[in-house]
Amino acid sequence: MTTTTDERAAAATGDAAPLLEVTDLVKHYPVKEYARLFPKTLQTRAVDGVSFSLKAGETLGLVGESGCGKTTTGRLITRLIEPTSGSIRFDGTDIATIKESKLRPLRRDFQLIFQDPYQSLNPRQTVGTIVGTPLAVHNLVPKNKIKARTAELMELVGLNPEHLNRYPNEFSGGQRQRIGIARALAVEPKLIVADEPVSALDVSIQAQVMNLMEDLRQKLGLAFVFIAHDLGVVRHFCDRVAVMYLGKIVEIGASDDIYTAPQHPYTQALLSAAPDLNVVRGAEPNERIRLTGDVPSPIDPPTGCRFRTRCWKAQEVCSTTEPVLETPDSAVRGSAHRLACHFPEVRTDLVAEAPVD
Ligand SMILES: Nc1ncnc2c1ncn2[C@@H]1O[C@H](COP(=O)(O)OP(=O)(O)OP(=O)(O)O)[C@@H](O)[C@H]1O
Ligand code: SF4
Ligand SMILES: [Mg+2]
Repeated sequence: MTTTTDERAAAATGDAAPLLEVTDLVKHYPVKEYARLFPKTLQTRAVDGVSFSLKAGETLGLVGESGCGKTTTGRLITRLIEPTSGSIRFDGTDIATIKESKLRPLRRDFQLIFQDPYQSLNPRQTVGTIVGTPLAVHNLVPKNKIKARTAELMELVGLNPEHLNRYPNEFSGGQRQRIGIARALAVEPKLIVADEPVSALDVSIQAQVMNLMEDLRQKLGLAFVFIAHDLGVVRHFCDRVAVMYLGKIVEIGASDDIYTAPQHPYTQALLSAAPDLNVVRGAEPNERIRLTGDVPSPIDPPTGCRFRTRCWKAQEVCSTTEPVLETPDSAVRGSAHRLACHFPEVRTDLVAEAPVD
């Protein structure tokens, strides 16, 4: 049985325990500053206090400009890197700091799909080995059944199961991303973190791979954290969307709320910049919000609100007091909508029409 985006979003605000609960997640990277006589160690605040949760089968989009901490967040929640602080509860266990030996049996439950299908596959291994190895490592099927299961996985992602003996360079970019998806699915995960899985692909292939992931999500009930640069890509795929800026979430909510009534100036600017969202079915393009200035350095982020150096609504308080991520006054009761802004304003003029399922 399949569910609509609305039904899944409603379920997401219900009582079921979260599959993933991230609280105050921080990742700082030390960097040496050599400009002085005595070099000083500074910190790149790649992720700086991120909190969100995800229910089983739910999809969350993680969106923001380059360098805002999306990949670092994805790597933290799949424990490819260890956080500086914070907790990551996965299915009831805090995996933030547990030892690798205790983490190993849990690893199959969360898988990462990488941005670059060219670099994420070992060119010296056949596709059969790439997809079949996780089955053997995790003892998921008897040895004599690995080939048959690998062929099934190939079919599941729309590849010819007779091509198991081929090498990655014999496949196109879209097919390689399908191989990466098959490898992730081999261990029957509960959560997939997809880090810009289509941005390295031709536009014509992007929709095919997105449709495949949507089919798999429905068929297998997978939860997804889907990382993307712009809001357009995740629009139809995600139940909820979190917008990140300089290591923090600035607005998070059901996709409908984010796309049709964004309240944070940064979300509004991102939405306004996504061309396919403004010119829908011949509608008049809306007035564009143009962001000026560069993203400040994550080594020395602005005081107060980190977006204030680019925000057209900034006032004195924005530089002295950091806004807290909280439910806006305008939210309907029980809404999961949260944003961090001293002067939120609902904008309904930035999308031409509500998203369609
Ligand atoms: N291993 C590292 N050492 C030092 N700094 C790092 C490291 N990895 C990431 N950073 C820094 O952390 C910040 C966040 O990087 P991250 O890759 O998470 O951003 P992103 O949102 O995924 O960007 P993009 O959209 O370009 O992929 C950046 O300033 C980056 O330079
Ligand atoms: S807190 Fe102030 S600077 Fe930050 S987004 Fe809101 S209005 Fe702009
Ligand atoms: Mg990235």
